[in-house]
Amino acid sequence: FDNDEMAYLEEIGIIGGSGLDDPDILEGRTERYVETPFGKPSDALILGKIRDVQCVLLARHGRKHTIMPSNVNYRANIWALKEEKCTHILVTTACGSLREDIRPGDIVLIDQFIDREEVVMAEVVVVVAVVVEAVAVAWSSGMFQEHLFVGAKEYAVTTKRAQTFYDGDLSSPAGVSHIPMAEPFCSRTREVVSEAARSLGVSFHASGTMVCIEGPRFSSRAESLMFRQWGADVINMTTVPEVVLAKEAGLCYAAVAMATDYDCWKQHEEAVCVDNVLKTMKENANKASSILLTAIPLISQLNWDETISQHKAMAVSSVMLPKH
Ligand code: ADE
Repeated sequence: FDNDEMAYLEEIGIIGGSGLDDPDILEGRTERYVETPFGKPSDALILGKIRDVQCVLLARHGRKHTIMPSNVNYRANIWALKEEKCTHILVTTACGSLREDIRPGDIVLIDQFIDREEVVMAEVVVVVAVVVEAVAVAWSSGMFQEHLFVGAKEYAVTTKRAQTFYDGDLSSPAGVSHIPMAEPFCSRTREVVSEAARSLGVSFHASGTMVCIEGPRFSSRAESLMFRQWGADVINMTTVPEVVLAKEAGLCYAAVAMATDYDCWKQHEEAVCVDNVLKTMKENANKASSILLTAIPLISQLNWDETISQHKAMAVSSVMLPKH
């Protein structure tokens, strides 16, 4: 991982969420398809400028929206942006609101998350996969064996999202990373985004806890009520592991979340469905892009050397290297 001594703002990466990934915000666009040690990012990187600031835009779900939340290659996306020399990543994400006062259309600049990946299920699937593999290995027919083996492997990799670049693979960075997550987001970048939202007069909340579910299904009412009791403010399907990987990569990461619905906890309110999400998104998508368009020039006017050094130092010091 290139976490060298140099620490100054270079480029700004933008990861656009569903319906919030308009490439028209960039001037003088060019496309680049890249590969990373973790495979391909969700789509081409779109390089261009926002008021003279070099930016790189990536559509989280692909430009045709074909990749569901669990199948987004989060590691390749973050790696590719880091490789493009991004020091900052600003992302947009649609989310459900778990609070009366966060109304559909409101912006929430989240500062915490609760990870609700289906870890237990993933482990069950891995156990099943291992058993299936063992049976396959014991089986004498070559063709049947291969078939079962492939099936088991596919099952094991698609259910749990990879949360680290340091996975022990030979082509991955060496060591084990125990990255602190007390402050998952870059608070200084979030403050600048707040300033941008304030100057535009849009309705926004300066902090909030995102509960991130595995999806692609929405939550049951019982789950939605439980997430409220847990103290979560908003709900989506992509914040984890994206923010975790950005932190491991030593980047300044901030998220502009747009509430599109009241999930399904609220009485006398239509429960979340694709139609109401798309409707609110259409009516408010320009809010997210104007915040980015305002925040990016503000970010570029500041000196980030100290902040970037701190993020990189945390990333580097979290890695335990193998003993010799
Ligand atoms: N994205 C938009 N609304 C959502 C909701 N209610 N739950 C999960 N993800 C969402």
